[in-house]
Amino acid sequence: MSEAAPNKFFLTTPIYYVNARPHIGHAYTTIVADVLARRHRLLGDDTFFLTGTDEHGQKIERSAAAAGIPPQQFTDQVSATFREPWRRMGLTFDDFIRTTEPRHKQGVQKLFRAIEDAGYIYLDTYTGAYCVSDEAFVDVAPGAPCPECCNLTETLSESNFYFKLSEFQQPILDLIESNTLVIQPETLRNEVLSFVRGGLRDLSISRTGIKWGIPVPGHPDHVIYVWLDALANYMTAVGYGSDAPEDIAKFARYWPADLHLIGKEIARFHCVYWPAFLLAAKLPLPRTIAANGWLLFQDSKMSKSKGNVVRIETILDAFGTLCPPVPGGSIGLQPHEWSAEEKGASAPGSPTKQEQDLFASDILRYFLLREIPFGQDGNFSLEAMVTRYNADLANGYGNLVSRTLNMLAQSRNSIVPAPPLPLLLEGVWGGQPRGAEGEPSYSQSFGGSEHVRLIVEAFAVEQTNQKLWPTLDFNLVAGNIWYAIGITDGYLSNFTPWRLAKSTEPVDSGKLDEVLYTAAESIRIITALLYPILPYATASVWRQLGLGDIELAAKSGELKNLQWGGLQPGTKLGPLSPIFPRADKKLLEIMTQMEQDRNTPIAHANAQADAATPTATEFRETSLASAGPRTATFAQSSPGGQVAASAANTTEREGTPAHTEAASGIFAAQAAVPQTSVQIGIEDFAKIELRVAKILVAERIPKADKLLRLEVDLGYEKRQILSGIAEFYTPEELIGRRIVVITNLAPRRMRGLESHGMLLAASDGDHGKPVLATFGENEEIPLGSRLK
Ligand code: MSP
Repeated sequence: MSEAAPNKFFLTTPIYYVNARPHIGHAYTTIVADVLARRHRLLGDDTFFLTGTDEHGQKIERSAAAAGIPPQQFTDQVSATFREPWRRMGLTFDDFIRTTEPRHKQGVQKLFRAIEDAGYIYLDTYTGAYCVSDEAFVDVAPGAPCPECCNLTETLSESNFYFKLSEFQQPILDLIESNTLVIQPETLRNEVLSFVRGGLRDLSISRTGIKWGIPVPGHPDHVIYVWLDALANYMTAVGYGSDAPEDIAKFARYWPADLHLIGKEIARFHCVYWPAFLLAAKLPLPRTIAANGWLLFQDSKMSKSKGNVVRIETILDAFGTLCPPVPGGSIGLQPHEWSAEEKGASAPGSPTKQEQDLFASDILRYFLLREIPFGQDGNFSLEAMVTRYNADLANGYGNLVSRTLNMLAQSRNSIVPAPPLPLLLEGVWGGQPRGAEGEPSYSQSFGGSEHVRLIVEAFAVEQTNQKLWPTLDFNLVAGNIWYAIGITDGYLSNFTPWRLAKSTEPVDSGKLDEVLYTAAESIRIITALLYPILPYATASVWRQLGLGDIELAAKSGELKNLQWGGLQPGTKLGPLSPIFPRADKKLLEIMTQMEQDRNTPIAHANAQADAATPTATEFRETSLASAGPRTATFAQSSPGGQVAASAANTTEREGTPAHTEAASGIFAAQAAVPQTSVQIGIEDFAKIELRVAKILVAERIPKADKLLRLEVDLGYEKRQILSGIAEFYTPEELIGRRIVVITNLAPRRMRGLESHGMLLAASDGDHGKPVLATFGENEEIPLGSRLK
């Protein structure tokens, strides 16, 4: 990616599937895009930042069916749950495209026709495996797990239109090898190259087995393959497919994209299929595709299907409580769609909801960019986030700003002094600042002010701005800025302005001017550099420095080509307030509790069932209600969660005492009321998620006499369950039965296989034969329906 080249910059995020609510894995890519968009805007580039939601395909069709509402209504609701956190975080996307919009549909059909007219499409039959979770045709034996996501595949045999992908093997190799199409990071580029060198086979680009999609022009029984549909968003959002003159002009202005940001798991679609579709349709190719690694939580990829997600709301609600009051009114940021209520402070002198959200969003932005080298996987932990916050933001940047500006306020009446000329006072002054043991002190090497000046300027111009940003090494960008912060901090400690301020010697007054000017100017440059990463905090610092609105400064080019001396002596500081107050241990406890409350079976069950129904406000109110000490709910909810977890385990063990292997596979309800039965409330019962499922596959497991391996269809997904019923049922009599499954039991492994869920059965006494709870043939109930 080159910063020097065009003066337009069109960047995109993946469009997110609307089968579940967003989590910080989704926020990661979107935040990176926002940081880059801000950076390019301040450089003066005509920047267009696009994000949106991917709303068609089998996965969404099934999720809507499981939620029991029409797909359009379903996608309307879940798409809004993506817009909401982006809005709360003040992300500055220029457009949010939804693939169910008419403008998109017409563009996708136009692209299909263009590829067809060029002779690259033919009709055939696809028989093979399909992974609904990835929406991908996969080359594995029918029913085998998907090599990418490990979910079980399904077998399709349907009439499909095919795309002649095989004809594009060489052209794509040439483009990638010549770096005409840049793929970052290098490791991914190599993987893509070896995939393409391995040979490309023609690809199905329509489906007849589903209805929820964009019809193939002239063939209403086919819908366009969801990946062709989704990838086209990058063009349809900037006018492709429309004949309106303004859309034609927009397309000419922005296409091709300069940067597609993606997660590494969708590289094949973006780096192989997408360029091939564009080549076939004779359209220009994107310039760079850059992939982030995965956010891991508890050592595996954070994802809804694993249930190991951290919610964006938890971070915003918890860190938002640290937001200091903003003297002199709201910071001059203008993110879109804020309600009057959010813009207003709840009490005089306290921050508004908007300010709290933006403040907390900065902390998440910084943590993700600083902690994880872009392109690599990185562990996310709330504890690491709090530690980094305290070390880098509270004690680092925040403390440097506060001590400098407070000294300026106290000893210079909030007016930036003029530094005496030349800026080399300590040579004259002969101070003996301390260097680290064995290292030259500042005065021995450069002299304090000049040293700070050189370092800060060098990092601003040479390293940070010009070399590191284009490589997307955000952790190094931030690391360098923190180096400059450390240098400035050390300078203050060495030249002790607080002592100079107490001195009555006239020469010390000049020294104090110099030290304070140097520190303040250094802060100005550091703040300008930090703006894309910390837009809210830097807006506050900019105003406190007396420099006004940082957004206006970004627009007018004041934040680029930074040079020492830009801070004008005589500038009057704005009202002062803390930047990043320290977080104590309680914050971590609150966040952990908020996530635990959400992860109890009830909350988890609700989250799944609710994927269809949340309103943004409802969801937010829930998170706020559990935000710790503010409410009694916080104190009470913890034991509830634990009871639920142990109740589930106890039931599992009690129900199958005679069949140890059965422990993970069967839930045997007792006919007689057990003596030890514990009274539970309806809310405890509601924690257990029971759903209707159909047994698709049942087979014996070698060397396990009591276990059967089942594959069940829940309507919205398929699961593998190991069940200890081999002594009571033959596989043949089980296939096709509609049964009841406990779906929110954590997966566990047995005999090297994963079992995810339990079947519900009744047995007479502890040792009676379990009889599966089953629905009659004529009882109409869709798969996935919940038992209540
Ligand atoms: N709809 C497709 C993309 C179509 S683009 C034309 C899709 N959607 S998704 O909802 O599954 O989101 C994928 C993107 O979300 C990933 O590529 C990545 O950018 C982001 N992430 C989701 N979970 C993530 C992590 N745990 N870690 C990092 N990024 C993650 O695939």
